Amino acid sequence: MVAAVRVHKTGGPEVMVYEQIELAAPGPGQIKIKQHAIGVNYIDTYFRMGMYPAPGGLPFVVGSEGAGEVIAVGSGVTDLKVGDRVAAVVAMGGYAEERIIPADRAVKMPDNISYEQAAGMMLKGMTAEYLLRRTFKVEKGHTVLVHAAAGGVGLILCQWAKHLGATVIGTVGSKDKAELAKQNGADHTILYKDEDFAAKVKDITGGRLCDVVYDGVGKTTFPGSLDCLRPLGMFVSYGAASGQIDAFNINILQFKGSLFATRPTLNHYAAKREDLVAIAKDLFDVVGSGAVKIDVSGSYALKDARKAHEDLEGRKTTGSLILKP
Ligand SMILES: NC(=O)c1ccc[n+]([C@@H]2O[C@H](COP(=O)([O-])OP(=O)(O)OC[C@H]3O[C@@H](n4cnc5c(N)ncnc54)[C@H](OP(=O)(O)O)[C@@H]3O)[C@@H](O)[C@H]2O)c1
Repeated sequence: MVAAVRVHKTGGPEVMVYEQIELAAPGPGQIKIKQHAIGVNYIDTYFRMGMYPAPGGLPFVVGSEGAGEVIAVGSGVTDLKVGDRVAAVVAMGGYAEERIIPADRAVKMPDNISYEQAAGMMLKGMTAEYLLRRTFKVEKGHTVLVHAAAGGVGLILCQWAKHLGATVIGTVGSKDKAELAKQNGADHTILYKDEDFAAKVKDITGGRLCDVVYDGVGKTTFPGSLDCLRPLGMFVSYGAASGQIDAFNINILQFKGSLFATRPTLNHYAAKREDLVAIAKDLFDVVGSGAVKIDVSGSYALKDARKAHEDLEGRKTTGSLILKP
């Protein structure tokens, strides 16, 4: 038996139950991991509340991201062995002392990356990688708008976009968060609860607007985000912390400047093993070089997952949150 946090009925943070669960031995192509640190992500709240249906139905163990050591391997697994340090993002099963995952979804961790860093960055950092390098290729001279710039994905996006030579504008919910975003690469910050962020972006850029908007906030920043884009700019809607964007008429993209809009997820960008490995390597390199730092600002005991969700949804957190088994 191992300790885990399960949801039997979807709802608020209180539906998460800390309990003992049975874990079988890993099957063919699978590995069992003893987790040393577990990532907390906004997407975990979508599954917990039922906004996203859990693939295997109820009950389910919340969470997807973690890092630890391999403690058992199933038949047919040749490139991993007991004792290897690995990190992974696999839907469900994350908030647990131990978990079983397909071996081809795990990546070996370089020695210079700690379990805590890995748990704080595999989902958020690989997301930043594909958003900045694949969905829209950010280059020197681009102007980038990052919503929720002091959040987990936000802080990584700001640092990495700056490292790539972009001018970074970040929206944030408080003055403290604005300060943090500035320390992490944002050239300009906007308090989007108090200010009209689209008007402010127009001001900051002298009317030139942005090449790309990275929007993980969703409902409350749409359609304002489209007004921050120059003609042919790219609207990247990658999350819905404030709720999902309502259905809209696609013609709005024409009138606002022949814009591009996409709603990407890491699942698709990292579906092939070779892409997963390449994205992870890019992330390990940029963190290993010190160009991007992973700010693990909150560490909670696994049994306190409820508190972690309350803080995250209460907009009380910055950077990455982890659970310690
Ligand atoms: N598509 C993908 O592949 C992918 C992968 C990973 C994450 N994501 C998405 O990326 C986004 C960020 O994830 P994260 O785990 O790093 O979370 P996070 O940014 O650390 O936390 C969410 C932040 O959103 C802001 N926010 C704005 N309106 C909010 C509201 N009504 N309720 C709560 N928060 C609100 C808050 O910052 P302020 O107080 O500064 O406004 C809050 O801190 C999420 O939307 C997540 O779903 C997408």
